[in-house]
Amino acid sequence: MQVQVIDHPLIQHKVTLMRKQETGSKDFRNLLEEITMLMGYEITRDLPLEDIDVETPVATMKGKQISGRKIGIVPVLRAGLGMVQGLLDLMPTAKVGHIGLYRDPKTLKPVEYYCKLPDVKNRDFIIVDPMLATGGSASAAISLLKEKGIHHIKLMCLVAAPQGVKKVNTDHPDVKIYVAALDDTLNEHGYIVPGLGDAGDRIFGTK
Ligand code: PRP
Ligand code: URA
Repeated sequence: MQVQVIDHPLIQHKVTLMRKQETGSKDFRNLLEEITMLMGYEITRDLPLEDIDVETPVATMKGKQISGRKIGIVPVLRAGLGMVQGLLDLMPTAKVGHIGLYRDPKTLKPVEYYCKLPDVKNRDFIIVDPMLATGGSASAAISLLKEKGIHHIKLMCLVAAPQGVKKVNTDHPDVKIYVAALDDTLNEHGYIVPGLGDAGDRIFGTK
């Protein structure tokens, strides 16, 4: 399995709080945003830098600034919305696209209902979705981006099941996956075990 588990102690602590069934929507959303920002620090580690001339109040120097390709953040609706602000806080000039997919509760297959992306030229994309369960939704989201000519894609999730990682690895071996936690398995309804339940419902207070 090709997956990077970002298991900084702060992240592990916050994921545990999110898993607790008594954690309400407000805390759940805040924790998700905080974790996304902490994970964002790690997944942007390979951003290229260039030298620039800087005049400090004291002297001139060569400083560093991020160079190269622009960034696009693509949440998978709905639950991916909870991971946008944490990344935008780190990269305020990033553009945000949206992919609407829901998982049919009977077949567990993803159904597409929306796609709106920023200018794809010279841009790297980060797909965000808290849950990587069967992997059907993430794989479909990646395929959609590839159909639009996008080939620099990272996938960032909060909790993954091994089955989901395997599916994305198989369908899209070029896409690097980052997660905060890799759980045991899926139950008969396709929910991650132990997981944290339905992420969209917990973010938005629906049932
Ligand atoms: C959840 C989750 C992922 C998908 C994961 O969304 O946010 O998109 O399920 O499952 P998979 O890996 O088996 O495809 P859901 O379909 O519940 O929609 P929602 O975000 O609108 O609640
Ligand atoms: N979608 C969720 O929100 N949670 C799961 O455990 C699986 C899919």
